[in-house]
Amino acid sequence: MNGGDPRPGQIDLWYVPLADFGDDDQAACFRLLSPPERERHDAFRSESARLQHLAARGLVRTTLSRYRDVAPDQWRFETNRYGRPSIDGSLQISGLHFNLSHTHGMAVCAIASVEEIGVDVESRDRDAGLDELAATVLSRQERERFDTMQGQARGDFFFTLWTLKEAYVKARGMGLALPMNGILVDLESSAPAVHFSDEIADDPARWTFRSLPLEAGYIVGVAAALPADKLKIRPARTRAINLPTTP
Ligand SMILES: CC(C)(COP(=O)(O)OP(=O)(O)OC[C@H]1O[C@@H](n2cnc3c(N)ncnc32)[C@H](O)[C@@H]1OP(=O)(O)O)[C@@H](O)C(=O)NCCC(=O)NCCS
Repeated sequence: MNGGDPRPGQIDLWYVPLADFGDDDQAACFRLLSPPERERHDAFRSESARLQHLAARGLVRTTLSRYRDVAPDQWRFETNRYGRPSIDGSLQISGLHFNLSHTHGMAVCAIASVEEIGVDVESRDRDAGLDELAATVLSRQERERFDTMQGQARGDFFFTLWTLKEAYVKARGMGLALPMNGILVDLESSAPAVHFSDEIADDPARWTFRSLPLEAGYIVGVAAALPADKLKIRPARTRAINLPTTP
């Protein structure tokens, strides 16, 4: 199936609840994997991590094949020095980029026309350990605000900031090599506004951050080097292995 390129400003968020990822889907996804992907799959000790990896790898392959005439098992990937996967240069694909995120019970693949696209999904259920995480994830101002909050609002505040910051460090391709507490996100404005400390060395005007709920209990952060007025996010629930219609 060839649905063409994502339009400029468009971000397609294909997501798979892993409750839907049964034995047949798992077997079909496994058949798509490259030998190194199979090796990695076999090395997981945790069943949850194994399923997440398998679903995410199947999802990215079948998703990319929606946009270009390359069979799902024919995609090849390369990784940068920080581990970010991208389409292998030998395939000579331009204008099509992705980023993956997975957590217990969910896998997400973001597709965009720009290389600087990042996505992060987290389960909103988790309340334990937020204080320790907050110490490394939040800036001083965010931490002060967080410390005054309670209950659901406190969790929502933390997970919104965390997923947006993770999405940004992934869009930069550097992951946790960038300090998350050097990214300042203002949630008071109608859309998240971003500022950076000197350590981040980037221009906030280049970026748009968006946060959205995804199915019950999951929150997604998206960061893209795209102008806010042009950005359109299209979430679409799918199966890791099927190729239904474009969202
Ligand atoms: C990227 C990172 C922030 C992801 O954190 P996370 O919230 O645990 O995981 P997520 O599910 O959101 O994302 C994982 C996916 O992001 C992608 N990814 C990995 N490294 C990435 C990076 N540097 N930038 C963008 N995306 C990355 C991968 O597709 C990965 O899934 P996979 O391993 O199953 O292929 C974290 O793993 C990290 O900082 N890694 C970099 C480590 C590093 O510097 N390594 C250097 C030597 S390899």
